[in-house]
Amino acid sequence: MTEQTSLAGKKIVLGVSGSIAAYKAADLVRLCTKAGAEVKVVMTQAASEFITPLTMQTLSGNPVAMTLLDADEEAAMGHIKLARWADWVLIAPATANTIAGLAQGRTEDLLSALCLATTVPIALAPAMNNKMWTNKATQANLAVIAERGMHLLGPASGDQACGEQGEGRLLEPEQILAELSQLVLPPKLAKKRLVITAGPTHEPIDPVRFIGNRSSGKMGFAMATAAAETGAEVILVTGPVHLATPPGVTRIDVETASQMHEAVEKIESIDIFIGCAAVADYRPQQYHDKKIKKTAEKQREISLIENPDILAGVSQRKQKPFIVGFAAETDNITDYAKEKMVRKQLDMIAANQVGKGLGFAVDTNALQVFWHQGDAVLPQALKSHLARELMRLIIERYDAKNSA
Ligand code: PMT
Repeated sequence: MTEQTSLAGKKIVLGVSGSIAAYKAADLVRLCTKAGAEVKVVMTQAASEFITPLTMQTLSGNPVAMTLLDADEEAAMGHIKLARWADWVLIAPATANTIAGLAQGRTEDLLSALCLATTVPIALAPAMNNKMWTNKATQANLAVIAERGMHLLGPASGDQACGEQGEGRLLEPEQILAELSQLVLPPKLAKKRLVITAGPTHEPIDPVRFIGNRSSGKMGFAMATAAAETGAEVILVTGPVHLATPPGVTRIDVETASQMHEAVEKIESIDIFIGCAAVADYRPQQYHDKKIKKTAEKQREISLIENPDILAGVSQRKQKPFIVGFAAETDNITDYAKEKMVRKQLDMIAANQVGKGLGFAVDTNALQVFWHQGDAVLPQALKSHLARELMRLIIERYDAKNSA
């Protein structure tokens, strides 16, 4: 029986590339069809070594396309026809080779050619050995395709077919379906303005030194990507980071907490504010405009003064937006986070444990989310996944507040 889901009536081209995980694509076709989507499968030659086109044809109810220059296809333009037919392209599993091909815009087979020819959104669920996943070449290719607006689903971490353990496993078909269903939802926050702070702040001591922290900006940039997917106008105010601007996001670069505060204060009519930046609470009282020289003194002191609190400033506004703070804690997470939510007059706070390889700089995180009437646990996952889950909660609470 067909279930009423956001995929109902959607036309999906499911690209299957050559991975041992290709067998899971069969289940994915079944789940997508059950969710009301029409599925046409495109397989690479290598994928057909792992699972037969006949299986995919039987499950999808449509012929499986494999060849770029197929004489049976009218005028041999199968890739253009499929590119026009689809509402979404989903590639699962997406191998390292397929991802490299997409990053370079290659057209060596039907799947890569139709991805180049289509204007509809593309989502991919990677599957590969963990060393291949963490290889800088793969990560650079992923950064390129993310910048072009393709959506990454997973990968999961755990036992791998090669006998190793780590990141790179294909998400389970149910998880792929759930994430795709979220992406396909009509834009929930169209015409809303969402402001996100991200990254660290650098508080200069002299022209060569500053007080900083370990934030890489990854969590805040993932929030900006997830927010842009909801159709909102997204303004990202970021401290110094080495990350590409997510597609469709307006970026304002700052260095210090005071500059971040000033940039946020200038933005009018904010509907939702998310404070993900690791803002320095204090800055050196005195800035030395020449490099401080080493002296014979055995001990030196830097006097610090308090920085403006950006979240507190936003919560003082007459037109107060829905405000989400983050709390980075090493211990006593629940109590500290709840206390911050009340003291800073927030609607919601997302708390994460930091230190010892957690929270800062790494690609994964885990969040405990609190609001005034409830809480939720978002277990460890990629920051991109957590950001989408957190956006879902934010929209839920934002809607509840505005309909109260
Ligand atoms: O950037 P990554 O490497 O991906 O790491 C992500 C992260 C760990 C930095 C992120 O998930 C996170 O927890 N961000 C908030 C870090 C923080 O500064 O927490 P805090 O507990 O010190 O501050 C609480 C809240 O007040 C935060 O929303 C912060 O943005 C805000 N704040 C703090 C000080 C200040 N002067 N102004 C503020 O607005």
